Amino acid sequence: MDRLMPEGICDAQPTKLLGRHVVYHETTDSTNTLAKTLAQRGAEEGTLVIAEEQTAGRGRLGRRWLAPRGTSLLFSLIFRPVLPATRAQGLTMVCGLSTCQAIRALTGLPAKLKWPNDIVLRGLKVGGILTEVSTTGMCLDYVVVGIGLNVNLEVSSLPADFNATSISSELGHAVSRSSLLQTVLCEIDGRYLMLRNGKWPVKEWAAALETVGQRVKLHTTLGIVEGTATAVDEEGALSLRLDNGQLRKVHVGDIVSRHKPWKGLGRE
Ligand code: BTN
Repeated sequence: MDRLMPEGICDAQPTKLLGRHVVYHETTDSTNTLAKTLAQRGAEEGTLVIAEEQTAGRGRLGRRWLAPRGTSLLFSLIFRPVLPATRAQGLTMVCGLSTCQAIRALTGLPAKLKWPNDIVLRGLKVGGILTEVSTTGMCLDYVVVGIGLNVNLEVSSLPADFNATSISSELGHAVSRSSLLQTVLCEIDGRYLMLRNGKWPVKEWAAALETVGQRVKLHTTLGIVEGTATAVDEEGALSLRLDNGQLRKVHVGDIVSRHKPWKGLGRE
């Protein structure tokens, strides 16, 4: 196992904001849970919380996120953007897109996004993002974005219908988790500073989404809808052309895979 080097994580690729303060644990329940506690206690923007192993890692929609110790990147970032509460999706956009870009830059693998925030390689899930917000009135108080990435993980040990992969499985060799983390942080840092100046990477994000143009079946708060994904808007909502010809905008949902949805290495 290559040990993560939290001390000086941003020395090789300097960041302006992220990772200046690092909280590293060999084991924690969930880096998102810990980051939220720290944010409530006033931790500075850009704080990075990282662990080799989580005992209660969480995915979207109440799922678990499990990954064997030392095989993955499991980390959370604290943001304090001055934005209305309704615009937190911008952080998910920035982090998803930046993670894709970092994988491409470091490994050459053609990472894409599956709406809203899965990171995929050849259509197989390689990572996921969990964004959690705290609001004061109509404004964001803080946003915690948690990222889980299957880096040096043996996917052949997983049931075939898990529909997942790892970077090492795709490449045929291990990669340095520290280098990947540095690259991801650097990519997020640049785009987050742009976001703070009002520049949202909507076009870049839309271009990284493999979902647009595909036929999809979506679990939404109002039930299952099926159709062809036609576009995304600047708030991250997905437009679907339903089979009856109607256009439907979905803000929150989950694409139902032909296989079982990925749940990290655990089961619900
Ligand atoms: C998903 O695809 O459902 C999102 C998965 C997010 C997992 C990461 S791992 C680091 C951080 N801590 C957590 O408990 N969850 C996120």
